[in-house]
Amino acid sequence: MKLRKKVYMVAGYNTISMGTGRKEFHPKKTRPDIEDYIKEAGQGVLKQIGGAKNVDEAVIGNFIAARFNRQGNLAAFLPFIDEGLRYKPAVRVEGACGSGALALVTGIRSVLAETADVVLVLGVEVQNTVKAIYGADILAAAGWAKERKNGHAYFFPGKFSDRAKAYQEKFGKEKSREAMAMWYVNAIENARLCPTAQEYHNTSDDLRSCGMMNPNPRGFVDSLNMFDCSKVSDGASAIAVVSEEGLARIGIPKSEAVEVIGFGQAEDDVTRPPDDPTVLATTREAVRKALESAGITKEQLGTVECHDCFTIAGVLAVEAIGFAPHGGGAEFILQGHTKRTGKVPFNTTGGLVGWGHPTGATGVHQAVTIWEQLTGRAGDSQIKITAERPYGLSINMGGDDKSLVSIVFKKAE
Ligand code: CAA
Repeated sequence: MKLRKKVYMVAGYNTISMGTGRKEFHPKKTRPDIEDYIKEAGQGVLKQIGGAKNVDEAVIGNFIAARFNRQGNLAAFLPFIDEGLRYKPAVRVEGACGSGALALVTGIRSVLAETADVVLVLGVEVQNTVKAIYGADILAAAGWAKERKNGHAYFFPGKFSDRAKAYQEKFGKEKSREAMAMWYVNAIENARLCPTAQEYHNTSDDLRSCGMMNPNPRGFVDSLNMFDCSKVSDGASAIAVVSEEGLARIGIPKSEAVEVIGFGQAEDDVTRPPDDPTVLATTREAVRKALESAGITKEQLGTVECHDCFTIAGVLAVEAIGFAPHGGGAEFILQGHTKRTGKVPFNTTGGLVGWGHPTGATGVHQAVTIWEQLTGRAGDSQIKITAERPYGLSINMGGDDKSLVSIVFKKAE
């Protein structure tokens, strides 16, 4: 559906994606906690928009702080960012790893419903409170709990390993592995250009060999190696979702904002296995709706931030958008089209594999990255946006292709 009112995003902020790979990270040392990340990201936005007095509502996206941090009622941390937010309406939303984009959509709907002109939207997750193997059990809550006992110890890596295996059996093992390795190389090369990325400090001189490493089914999962995986990350991202009136109130010129041209949301049954593991069908549906709502074609996309929780999800996302036919995603990536210099640069600050995946923050991080790219403030990560392809697309996924949000952005005029 076409949006009936103009909605903008502006004043984005990302904390560092903290975890293994960052020089500052040591699992045994005291680190910032969830409230510290919330405060940093929230204040990062408030400083740019003239302070808390300008905010009408706030939304926080988070997956599962109740288990990683023993903390619920996260909306009540919004006034902790700034006293000026006390007594303002606030809500927390959850849709597993898609929580961030659901928070954005909640803000967008408030602006469309005219209950707010300025919404502070924040996503957060702090996951390094436990080792990755225990974290995998917590993250498994994004799947069907009743299936957990039949699942892999690393539940979600196991799910996407099954998808990778099916893809390799159907479309060729060698080419798929090469494409997944290329996805990894692109992710790290992009992350090295972005100071907040978890892999910013990566100095490996043979990324391809890492990506090509044989999976170790005894130690991990059948068809993915460690480099195919998104990171275990702590971090928060925030951005302001505003109306035309809101932009005027915060005193930011349109040229510094992106417009939300359209969005698509789709949900599938958590108890249901994928009809075809080589297809991200819910992702495909969300993207279709987003492009339709924006009234544009995929050929007009200048950049995409997709949910590469595992490299195979990147390959499948390329196909879900329609850039390549079923089974052709690997070739599309191997031809270099998703590189930062390619036809349609994907995940220009590293994506979930390179920048990091603080699960509840990821959808907001994607929006901040697109806002930076389209308004020319991406620093060393900056790509060229052309007049023929002026749009950015984000895809944020919760569960195994279950809770999907896709958003189309364009530099505001
Ligand atoms: N306390 C003590 N030690 C810690 C620690 C802590 N809090 N945090 C990390 N460490 C340790 C680790 O145990 C490890 O030490 P050892 O080698 O001695 O065991 C060391 O620090 C390095 O840790 P790494 O995280 O680098 O490596 P790992 O081997 O522990 O994990 C990995 C690698 C299993 C691939 C992990 O990165 C991983 O699980 N990635 C995937 C994350 C994931 O599944 N995210 C969700 C994606 S699915 C999605 O997006 C949809 C949805 O809705 C869920």
